[in-house]
Order: sequence, then structure tokens, then C-alpha cells
Amino acid sequence: MYCIKEAKKLRGEITVPGDKSISHRGIMLGSLAEGDTRLHGFLEGADCLSSISCFRKMGIDIVRDGSDVTIHGKGLHGLKAPSEILDAGNSGTTTRLMSGILAGQDFFSTITGDDSLKTRPMKRVITPLEKMGATIDSENGCLPMTIHGGKLHGIDYISPVASAQVKSCVLFAGLFADGKTSVTEPAVSRNHTELMLKGFGASVITDEKKHFVQVEPEPKLIGQEITVPGDISSAAYFLVAGLICQDADILVKNVNINPTRAGILKVIEAMGGDITYLDRRTVSGEEVADIEVKSSSLHGTTVEGDIIPALIDELPVIAVMAAYASGQTVIKDAAELKVKESDRIAVVTENLKAMGCDITATDDGFIINGGQPLHGTEIKTQKDHRIAMSFAIAALNASGETTFDDPSCVNISYPDFFKTLELIHEN
Ligand code: S3P
Repeated sequence: MYCIKEAKKLRGEITVPGDKSISHRGIMLGSLAEGDTRLHGFLEGADCLSSISCFRKMGIDIVRDGSDVTIHGKGLHGLKAPSEILDAGNSGTTTRLMSGILAGQDFFSTITGDDSLKTRPMKRVITPLEKMGATIDSENGCLPMTIHGGKLHGIDYISPVASAQVKSCVLFAGLFADGKTSVTEPAVSRNHTELMLKGFGASVITDEKKHFVQVEPEPKLIGQEITVPGDISSAAYFLVAGLICQDADILVKNVNINPTRAGILKVIEAMGGDITYLDRRTVSGEEVADIEVKSSSLHGTTVEGDIIPALIDELPVIAVMAAYASGQTVIKDAAELKVKESDRIAVVTENLKAMGCDITATDDGFIINGGQPLHGTEIKTQKDHRIAMSFAIAALNASGETTFDDPSCVNISYPDFFKTLELIHEN
């Protein structure tokens, strides 16, 4: 049983592992490109390793040397039929993005995953892919799912959810269609697919105001050299740690601050957090900065509307930040939290309540009356990596000890999380 004690002092300079979303996309587009793609700073978490293993099963030679990965791409039509079921493990991104690619293949394939992934909704990708002409068998819209791919038609898809996984799935399928394919979303979701498709040579048109993206079919994708920046979703834990602890000064280096991902930074500013951006720069088409945070007197805020997709994965740790902020924080328009690796509305509420926080779950978020002292407890992670890490941060400012039933789930996105936490924990 892993145990974390209250931290009197946090100090240090850290780097976080490579961006998960960009690492997945690098494997997939590298596989479809002609020639070699090199990814530097690839995230060696279990989710991204699932993407590697699936594309290896389709005949792609992928060589790993730590976080340097070389993909020997075989071109847009170079995948071969897998002889086994494709196992996406815990990874929704592997499943949904890869299903778009599989829909364009003239072979059939089956994708499965772990117990958590098997409960997550796949109808959201099945519907547009069927509209494009694929035939998909599934267990009531869940995994396992068998995709009979083939020649696809271009469509103009109006997505009911702001989801980069759905958008990317449809755009990837559009690479194999007989005409242009577009996606319009209710709000802008992360745009790494669009940026990377352009980098590999595809023709992509975007209209951010209309939340619209269009891709042309049959591009010639050329292998790229990509430096993957640090993941803001991983940095978020240490940013919040620095803000909520009484004596803290932490520098998190090399963080991707792409505006379609960096909603948490706006929330930190709105809550009165002491945050400074250093050395802003562009790396492989993505905005990057070093970020310094110091102990702050935070106050509550409202988080709602179009910003939600830009911080969806950070909402558990934002809830932790709100628990330590004075006054009320309201988080709404985030019903998507219910269909992540766990039902994050229920699991965050249960664990924060167990620590003594005044929190109420709503249909699409939480109401948190913060600023009361919290105490250690046993955290039930539900094997959800973001729950384990968010509550490891909550533990730093809680009296007594906080224990975790299954800390190993951090391997999904941040295998060295606890080691890094120990580095900055000065007592
Ligand atoms: C991701 C998109 C988000 C996010 C997930 C990664 C991606 O999911 O929660 O962790 O890489 O496209 P949705 O697009 O379903 O919101």
C-alpha cells in the first residue's frame, strides 16, 4: 500500500514525460508515412505502448531506444491484416484513432481492451465510420469491435461531442475516402491531429471559429523528425502541488501549452495562482514553455462552456485545487467525465468527501465549497491513473497519511510520477 504524508516544503526543477496525445499520433502517422519517422521524447506509458503493439501487429517495424522511437513507415496503403486481435489495453485514444485507420483498410480486424476500456462508448466512432461506408460489429457499442474496412466515402460530419478522439478518427478515415471529409464540433477539441497531419504533408483546412476541420484524401505522407514536448496533463499535477502547498516553488520545464490543451492555465490564473511562463517557444509545431509556480492563496471560480475540452483530463486535479481554494468553485458542462477511464464525477466526489471536503456531484460536474482543512484517507483509484495522481497531490496538503489501493495505474501515462514527487518533497 503506497502512502503519502503532508509536505511542509516543495522545491525543485522537473521535466515531465512526453505528451500522450502527440506520442499516439506520432506512431499512427509514422506508420502511414513513407520512410522513417523519429519521435524524440516519446511517452513510454502503457497507453502509448499499446499503440506501438497494435501497429507492429499490422506489419510496421517500430524500434524503441528509451524515449527515442523510430517508425519504419510503409505508406498510406502499407498496413497488413493483423493475424491476432488488436489489444488497446486501457487506451481510448489507441482504440478510437486506430479505428478510423482500420475502417480504410481492405481487411477486417478486431480491437479489444481491458475491463475499463470495454465499458467505454464506441458508438461515437462507429456512427461516423458507418456513415462513411465501413461495417462494424460490436458488443452494444462497446469493445470488442470488428471493423470490416474498405473504400470509404467522404462525409461532412457534425459531431455531437467535442472529442478529439472522434474528430481524429473521422479525419484518419478521411485519408482513405473518395472525397473530402470534414468534422464540425460543438466546441474546439485538442488539435494535435490537424497540426501533425499538416506536418506529414496532408492537406488540412481548419476554421477555429466554426470548430471545423477538413482533410483531403490520399495524401502522400512523408516521415518526420518530431520532438514530443512535455505533457501538460502530467505537468498539471506539479503545478497544482506548487500552488496548494504552503511553502512551494517548482519549475516544470518543457510543457506543451497548445491553447487547445492549456485550459488549466486559465483556471489557475482565474483562481489567483502565482504562475510565470518562461522561455516560450515552438517545438515541432507545438507551443512550449517552462512554467514556475509558487504557493498561492487561491479562490474559487466557475469552469464551464467551451473551455471544458481544453482541460477535460485536468478536471480531477482542478477539483483538488478547488478543495484548497477559499469559496465556491462550480464545474459544469463536463458530463464527458463520466465516460473516462472511470466515472470521474463519482470517483472524485467520493474521494474528496472521504478527505473531508464539501463537494456535491452534479450531472455535468461538481460544486465544491473549498478552503476547509482536509485529512488523509484511503483513496480508491478505480485503476484510473488521473485519479491516483490527483489524490497524491491532494495528500500533500492533507493532515496525516493518505494511502492508495492501486498506485501502479500511474504507469498508463506517467510511470515515474511517484519518483518525481519524491524528488520535490523536501520533508
Ligand atoms: C485525447 C482526447 C481526450 C482525452 C484523452 C486523449 C486524445 O478524449 O480525454 O485522454 O488524445 O485525442 P476525448 O476526445 O474523448 O474527450
